[in-house]
Amino acid sequence: MSIALAACLSLATLTARSQDEIALGKTLTTNNCAVCHTFGQGEPNGQGPNLFGIIGRPLAAAPGFKYSAGMKAAAAGKVWDDKLLDQWLTDTQAVAPGNAMTYFEGDEARRRKIIAYLRTLH
Ligand code: HEC
Repeated sequence: MSIALAACLSLATLTARSQDEIALGKTLTTNNCAVCHTFGQGEPNGQGPNLFGIIGRPLAAAPGFKYSAGMKAAAAGKVWDDKLLDQWLTDTQAVAPGNAMTYFEGDEARRRKIIAYLRTLH
């Protein structure tokens, strides 16, 4: 098999795998986060802020959402990226002590899928 073909096949496998991750992530997000968050552009905040475009957005920046003092104090010019989101979902209190989100996800693979889906929301 040529190197180019091998590279092509592994890229196709990778793409299929990340599509699977995104689909699974969407299900996980709907089941675990949608009770408090909305995900579509311009949708109203719920108990938690709207999360459209969260990756690349500054912390505590959803228009019209009343963030806790802990969340606002932690924001300090930070922007959400994959790594910070992973830390947040593992232990929100480690990222923003005193914040009001009562949810955590201890399973690394599930966090990765959720974040893969959140990355598509732009
Ligand atoms: C029980 C309700 C609840 C659930 C379930 C929940 N959240 Fe939250 N989330 C909140 C609240 C409330 C805040 C705002 C916290 C604050 O102001 O202290 C928040 C904040 C956030 C933020 C910060 C947003 C910003 O604008 O900086 C992210 C990111 C987030 N949640 C992601 C998630 C994800 C992903 C899930 C599911 C895996 C989830 N949340 C599940 C209630 C929830």
